[in-house]
Amino acid sequence: MTTSTEPQHHPAGTRIAVISASVRKDRLGPTIAEWVVAALDRPADVDLIDVAEIRLPDDSLLSPGGGPRSEVAHRIAAADAFVFVTPEYNHSYPAALKRLIDWHYAEWRVKPATVVAYGVQGGYAAIEHLRGVLAELSVVTTRRAIGLRAPWTCLDDRGRYAPDADVSRGLTASLAELRWWAEVLADARRNRPLPA
Ligand SMILES: Cc1cc2nc3c(=O)[nH]c(=O)nc-3n(C[C@H](O)[C@H](O)[C@H](O)COP(=O)(O)O)c2cc1C
Repeated sequence: MTTSTEPQHHPAGTRIAVISASVRKDRLGPTIAEWVVAALDRPADVDLIDVAEIRLPDDSLLSPGGGPRSEVAHRIAAADAFVFVTPEYNHSYPAALKRLIDWHYAEWRVKPATVVAYGVQGGYAAIEHLRGVLAELSVVTTRRAIGLRAPWTCLDDRGRYAPDADVSRGLTASLAELRWWAEVLADARRNRPLPA
């Protein structure tokens, strides 16, 4: 067992938002999100967005394409790529994450995302539900996504997530894919507008 994850190098200026979806008290989410952040170099270009810390307007104000500008819209807009860190609840991802997604539109578009899910069974149902929703927003998901089976059994004596080396290698590989898409789609956003 090892605690090390090789930091993923991404070019300066590629901003990655790590979005932690659980809002429960005593949640595991931040522990997994910290593991992901540690695998990314250039901390200045990483924005950890904790859904529990965001107050979105009432859903009665929601309209197609989002709604009134939210307090976190500028942070999503500033990102070139997303890592969704999400638990699986009843074979999907949490409702709080769906609200965050629905409250934004242009901020997500033509950007890549990867998913780090976790749960008793590994969280794969949450991953696949997210893929379908993100496709509607023209978000490209990486082929690789990470499903962590019962990660609470892999905490070190300081409470950090410390999985086997092959799990960390999987994260490194999916972040490399994410970086590739981030570069390609940043160029596409500048030079190749998506047909309406
Ligand atoms: C409402 C709820 C539903 C859950 N449903 C599933 C499930 O469908 N599949 C699964 O593997 N784990 C399920 N779990 C277990 C969670 O994956 C586990 O509690 C995990 O720690 C939750 O992440 P969090 O602590 O960051 O909120 C569920 C947990 C909750 C609270």
